[in-house]
Amino acid sequence: MPETVSTAAQHANGHVSAMQHESTTPVTIVGLGLMGQALAERFLHAGHPTTVWNRSPGKADRLVEQGATAVATPADAIAGSPLTVVCVLDYAAVREILDAAGDALRGRVVVNLTSGTPEQARELATWAAEHQIGYLDGAIMAIPTMIGEPDTILLYSGDPAPFEAHQSTLTRLGGGTAYLGADAGLAALYDMALLSMMYTLHGGFLHALALVGTAGVSGAALLPYAATMMKSLVDWLPDTAREVDAGDYATEISTLDINKAGIALIVETSLRLGISADVLRPMQALIERRVAEGHGKDSLASLIEGIRRPASA
Ligand SMILES: NC(=O)c1ccc[n+]([C@@H]2O[C@H](COP(=O)([O-])OP(=O)(O)OC[C@H]3O[C@@H](n4cnc5c(N)ncnc54)[C@H](OP(=O)(O)O)[C@@H]3O)[C@@H](O)[C@H]2O)c1
Repeated sequence: MPETVSTAAQHANGHVSAMQHESTTPVTIVGLGLMGQALAERFLHAGHPTTVWNRSPGKADRLVEQGATAVATPADAIAGSPLTVVCVLDYAAVREILDAAGDALRGRVVVNLTSGTPEQARELATWAAEHQIGYLDGAIMAIPTMIGEPDTILLYSGDPAPFEAHQSTLTRLGGGTAYLGADAGLAALYDMALLSMMYTLHGGFLHALALVGTAGVSGAALLPYAATMMKSLVDWLPDTAREVDAGDYATEISTLDINKAGIALIVETSLRLGISADVLRPMQALIERRVAEGHGKDSLASLIEGIRRPASA
């Protein structure tokens, strides 16, 4: 379904601003939890006629005060707009809602921003195709307060037609909106990949804070050094990606042998200082296994071979 272009706000002198050229396609938001409310609010503020539905009553009230139309059933919600964005707890809830909407779904576009696995996304895409529903799976790489910001990333995958038709509306939610490809599972896969980084990097920072904390050093005191270190890690990413893509782990910078000794020192120190080494242990195990397999002269990037082939496999 094509985007509509607003002409309502044309100035008397005939000038139409860039803003007014942008789409104001009616949208429906299904699920008004913390994230769904932020999505609905963003569309409302951008001038989209916005229909909302939530399982429990009350959560639509603030949005209705801002101009949203609250409806009583998922079918009414889907029927309210050519484009429906679903953002609820999990895929089981999504299926319950879509099943309840029934025939109202036929010919409509559903964009599912609920977190799930790649497999769940592919299954739902197949089901949607069988029911003549335009389906896009998406992942929000942000918290609710970041919705609508120029750098906020939202990733989409699945049927390209709904993305092409609604790209400008979807971009309202974040300037970093991107379409990854026809495989509906890709957005969920990227989501998990990027969140894996978030958890492990965050864990590393917390471990660092625990270490310096044993000497009474505050987080604020470590912060400038941690931030600089994090930036150098970011600068290092292209080299790591290149090594992994090429499968070439020759290094003149830092071998696994030296990293094996380095991480053992940190683990030992942490334990002596009475703090957990749980954040470091998995990385230490990967390094030790790779060295034991005869790859001590390879770079750190070569650990991906161990990640791809778990010890238990
Ligand atoms: N919050 C974030 O920072 C963030 C960031 C990225 C992605 N996400 C993803 O966005 C999705 C929503 O997160 P959230 O933070 O908005 O969660 P939330 O505040 O806990 O809201 C959950 C929503 O799901 C609805 N729901 C749960 N089970 C349902 C069912 N069986 N049928 C109908 N509706 C049901 C709830 O309705 P009721 O009000 O009736 O309970 C509520 O609207 C999740 O998949 C989450 O992983 C969230």
